[in-house]
Amino acid sequence: MKTKTYETVIVGGGVIGCSIAFQLAKRETSVLLLEKERIASQASSAAAGMLGAQAELMESRTLFELARTSRSLFPVVSAELKELSGIDIGLVRKGLLRIALTAEEADRLRKHISCQQSLGEQAEWLTARQALEMEPELSPNVLGAMYIPDDGQVVASDLTNAFARSAVALGAEIQEFADVEHLVVEKETVVGIKTKDGIIPCNQVVVAAGVGTESLLKPNGLHVPVYPVKGECYSVKTSKPLLEKTIYTDGCYLVPKRYGEIVVGATVKKHACDRKVTLGGISSLMQQAERLLPSIMQAEWNRAWSGMRPQTPHDLPYLGEHPRCKGLFIAAGHYRNGILLSPITGIIMADLVEGKTPRWDISAFAIPETVHSYTGV
Ligand code: FAD
Ligand code: GLY
Repeated sequence: MKTKTYETVIVGGGVIGCSIAFQLAKRETSVLLLEKERIASQASSAAAGMLGAQAELMESRTLFELARTSRSLFPVVSAELKELSGIDIGLVRKGLLRIALTAEEADRLRKHISCQQSLGEQAEWLTARQALEMEPELSPNVLGAMYIPDDGQVVASDLTNAFARSAVALGAEIQEFADVEHLVVEKETVVGIKTKDGIIPCNQVVVAAGVGTESLLKPNGLHVPVYPVKGECYSVKTSKPLLEKTIYTDGCYLVPKRYGEIVVGATVKKHACDRKVTLGGISSLMQQAERLLPSIMQAEWNRAWSGMRPQTPHDLPYLGEHPRCKGLFIAAGHYRNGILLSPITGIIMADLVEGKTPRWDISAFAIPETVHSYTGV
C-alpha cells in the first residue's frame, strides 16, 4: 500500500502544535500532527492559563509586542473554537492585580504602569485600600497593586484540545502515541519523518515538541537548545468565590477558575526534568498564597501537578525555518507564555510554511545556525 503524503507534518500536540495545525487546516493545507503521548499531556495541561501580556512580559519589549497582539486575538479564537469543536476555552476577561508587598515592588510597578500607558495599554496604580475594595479577601498587608484590566485567562488544556478538535473538523489528521524518532533529510531539505511504524513523506515539518525539541533534532545533527524549567502548582475549591481577578506576585499567583477552583502556582526550577510534585514546592506556594489571601487556608484541597516549561538560552522562543535545513520549521521555547502566545504563533508559523512573510517582525526569534556533525538521516 502506498504511504500517504502530507504537505506538512507537525511534531508535538501541545498548545503550539495544535494552534499551528488549526491555522494550517483553515488554509486547507493537508496536515498531519503527531503526538507521542496524548494531546495536551505536557506543559500545555500544566499551565495556569493566564494571558499575562502586561503582567508577565514587562521586561521583554520584543515579546511584549507579540504577546499583546496574541492576547487581543482570544475573543475571536474563543468563538471560532467553540463553533468548530464545541469546547468552551473558559476565556475570562476580568483583569489581574499585580501585588506590591514591599516599597521596592511598589516603585517598580509604578514605573511599569507609566511605561505601559505610554505604549497605549491600560494599567493603573491602586492603593492598598482600593485593592482591598476590589478584592476584599486580599491580605491587609498589601502595599498596593498594579491593576491590569486586559490580562485575562483561559483553561489551558481546553484551549489545546479545542485547537486540536477544530483542526480535525477542518480536515487535519492527528495521531496520538506516535513518537517521531528523527527527520528524514536529503540534500539539506526535509522529505519526511520517521516513526517506529516507518517513514511518512512530507514537504515541510514543523517541530513544536516543547522540551523534546532538542533531543528530536539531535539525530539529524541539528543543535537547537531548549531546556526544561519545572513548575509545580496546586488547586483548591471553595463554595463561595474568594476572588474575581487573578492575583500575581513574582513568586506566586492565584487564578480563580470555573466551579470555585483557585489555581495556585508556580515554582520555578531550571533543568529539572521530572514531574514529581514535592512537599517543599507545594508548602512554599501555600505560605505565599496565605500571605496574599489568608482565607485560602479554609479552602478545600483539590489537586497538585507539575509541568516543564520549554525555555531557550536567549529567553525567546524559536519561530522560523532552520537556516541549514529547508522545509524544517521550529516553534518551540515559549517558556512561561505559550498559552498566551499560541494564537499568534499559529498564524506566524502557517504564514512561514506557506512561504508568506508574517505581518510581525520575527527576526529576534530566528533559529541559531549551530549544528552538530550533520548526518542527514
Ligand atoms: P508542550 O505542551 O510541552 O507540547 C509539546 C508536545 O510535544 C508534548 O505533548 C510532547 O509529548 C510532544 N513531543 C515531544 N517530543 C515528541 C516526539 N519526538 N514525537 C512526538 N511528539 C513529541 N503559559 C501561559 O501563557 N500562561 C500561563 O499561565 C502559564 N502557566 C504555566 C504554569 C506552569 C506550571 C507551566 C509548567 C507552564 C505554564 N505556562 C503558561 C507555559 C506554557 O504551558 C508553555 O509555554 C506551553 O504549554 C508550551 O507549549 P508547547 O506546545 O510548546 O509544549
Ligand atoms: N506563566 C506562569 C508560569 O509559567 O508559571
